[in-house]
Amino acid sequence: MTNRLIELRHVRKSFGSVFAVSGVSLHVDKGEVVGLLGDNGAGKSTLIKILAGVHAPTDGEILVRGAVVQNWSAARSRAAGIETVFQDRALCVQQSIVRNIFMGRELAGAFGFLRVAKQTQEAERLMREIGFTSKVFSPHSIVGQLSGGERQGVAIARAIYNKADLIILDEPTTALSLTETEKVFRFVRAVREGGRSILFIGHNIHHVYDIADRFIVLDRGRVVLEVARDEVASAEELISFMEGIAHPVAGKAMPFADKMRVLA
Ligand SMILES: Nc1ncnc2c1ncn2[C@@H]1O[C@H](COP(=O)(O)OP(=O)(O)O)[C@@H](O)[C@H]1O
Ligand SMILES: [Mg+2]
Repeated sequence: MTNRLIELRHVRKSFGSVFAVSGVSLHVDKGEVVGLLGDNGAGKSTLIKILAGVHAPTDGEILVRGAVVQNWSAARSRAAGIETVFQDRALCVQQSIVRNIFMGRELAGAFGFLRVAKQTQEAERLMREIGFTSKVFSPHSIVGQLSGGERQGVAIARAIYNKADLIILDEPTTALSLTETEKVFRFVRAVREGGRSILFIGHNIHHVYDIADRFIVLDRGRVVLEVARDEVASAEELISFMEGIAHPVAGKAMPFADKMRVLA
């Protein structure tokens, strides 16, 4: 029995002559939070669009639970249990929490009121599952009244409703305050406790450090470092590694030098 949920092997993606992702191998196991780090332009969004099936890889293999999946597509990604919360795809802020969770996949039923009652119940269950407990908000609250972190919670609840085993969050905390980031972290922890996996993308290490079990650092379309949380002494150590990659200084010692993948 393997714990491996999803694996990429030597995946490449080019746009014309530009390789946005050039030979990435990585995996996410069940119940694991993986932090995907990298500067702007490193290829993070392209990589998750590949996982989501938005882009087909130019090259390489995608394995789901140990088996290669051919003709990777958005439908196959969804069937594999991958749900992505995209940076640039907002919720419907003028709609309620319930409407947002069920958008496009409403429960069917002969009687409208029955369906609404069922959806409300299910929304309450999902919100509880991720630890979204509020005396102020109900499933009928309008999403526009929620804070940034709480909105991420609604998006995560929607992903769980859509039967996600792997939830990909593209820079979910980039525009958030520390308090709001903490809220998102709380949701992510609850999701992990439920046995699901999270791929958490960020370019600010402080936004990823406290939540990830493992870090993968991308640079110019390649994985330059993969390191378990307990092999990292502090966020500063990772920051210093990333600065060293962005601005190499001859003779300066790099953290994780022994773990760094050699770039061809
Ligand atoms: N649709 C596209 N067409 C052409 N180039 C693209 C496209 N998407 C991304 N790129 C390029 O690929 C590289 C990686 O971009 P991206 O995946 O968005 O990085 P990140 O999310 O890490 O900031 C960048 O150089 C970007 O300009
Ligand atoms: Mg991006």
